[in-house]
Amino acid sequence: KMTYRIGLLPGDGIGKDVITEARKVVETAASSFGFSVEWREFPYGAEHYLNTGEILPDEALEEMQQCCALLQGAIGDPRVPPGVLERGILLKTRFYFDQYVNLRPASTYPNVPTPLKRGEDMDIVVVRENTEDLYVGLGFLSNEEIEATVDMKRPSYTLKGALSLKVDPSMKFAAQLALATEMGVRRITRYACNLARRRKASEIVLATKSNAVKELYGLWEEIAKEETSKEGISLKLVNVDALCYQLARDPSGYGVILCPNLFGDIVSDLLAGLTGGLGLSPSANIGDGLSMFEPVHGSAPDIAGTGRANPLAAILSASLMLEHLTQVEASEAVKNAVLEYLRAFPRQRHPMELGGEATTSEVGDSVASIIQRM
Ligand code: NAD
Ligand code: IPM
Ligand code: MN
Repeated sequence: KMTYRIGLLPGDGIGKDVITEARKVVETAASSFGFSVEWREFPYGAEHYLNTGEILPDEALEEMQQCCALLQGAIGDPRVPPGVLERGILLKTRFYFDQYVNLRPASTYPNVPTPLKRGEDMDIVVVRENTEDLYVGLGFLSNEEIEATVDMKRPSYTLKGALSLKVDPSMKFAAQLALATEMGVRRITRYACNLARRRKASEIVLATKSNAVKELYGLWEEIAKEETSKEGISLKLVNVDALCYQLARDPSGYGVILCPNLFGDIVSDLLAGLTGGLGLSPSANIGDGLSMFEPVHGSAPDIAGTGRANPLAAILSASLMLEHLTQVEASEAVKNAVLEYLRAFPRQRHPMELGGEATTSEVGDSVASIIQRM
């Protein structure tokens, strides 16, 4: 019997609530499909930080390396200044394992109310570049010396002393550098092309903003054009602002949307809104080494611990994880159980986020019960 060691990071807020349910569903799928899971739970997050001062030690990253995959809840807490935990745990993990693909499928679901007026169907995957752009952490305050190494496992970049700002020395300022490299754009574009091919699509859409941010997104467009033409896929260039407008009006014509890091973050939350809720939006952070699976949403401190959190995004992220582990049948079973639950269970037994009355754990139980009956 195959055993998978899976690193579990429930994290903060509703991260803990939804991961309990994802774990429950994975356990059920494992016993139905004849494999087992050895969970390695990591305590990192706000509670651990406030108690010990530790954010995410290097030993933990080394231990994660012994896992087949990571399943994560969410990171972030109002008691800790923004960025300390998000950068120190979540982004650290994405960068350390060079998880350059952030895959964010967004589709409409049966019986889930959406803001789409004409009831269109939507079946989109955002392919978000995950290791560059404004996220590289090259930020500088006032008259700091500019020399910084991008905290990137492979490859590592050092940007050095090329910038000087001459201003009124009493005036505060901040500068943040965004990075796009040929290698970074090439590999994510190639991934998007392969995904398009798997979906039997001949085109990908690239969201940029080269009309305002010329060098950064100009390079994106140049390299993406080269790579897509090599791959025999056509490339449609759109400005991200116009894309958001079109998506909000009618997302039905879109398939694979390739985005630089920050735009991908924003576009995926917009699409989550169109599917009917963040609690339905899963994601996969994929690299050549260890990959990490997590819902698109955050720790939602406003509803943490109340039973109002929708765990379906975490459960669907676990399905993406099972697919990645090549437990394809189990992965399909989890996804189909979610669809069947939404299709067949009365609205009242749906998550509160979707207009029902079921608590977080009742939703997990319902999905698990369907897998058991399959
Ligand atoms: P959020 O995604 O946590 O919440 C946005 C809104 O959506 C809130 O009203 C919340 O109640 C609701 N919501 C989110 N997920 C839900 C679910 N599963 N079920 C029902 N409702 C849900 O975004 P935010 O409020 O901007 O961020 C809160 C914290 O989470 C911050 O600290 C932020 O940095 C962090 N964050 C972490 C991640 C991550 O770890 N991947 C992602 C986004 C935000
Ligand atoms: C996400 C989150 C993170 C991001 C934050 C918490 C750093 O919003 O996973 O979408 O910006 O990538
Ligand atoms: Mn986000």
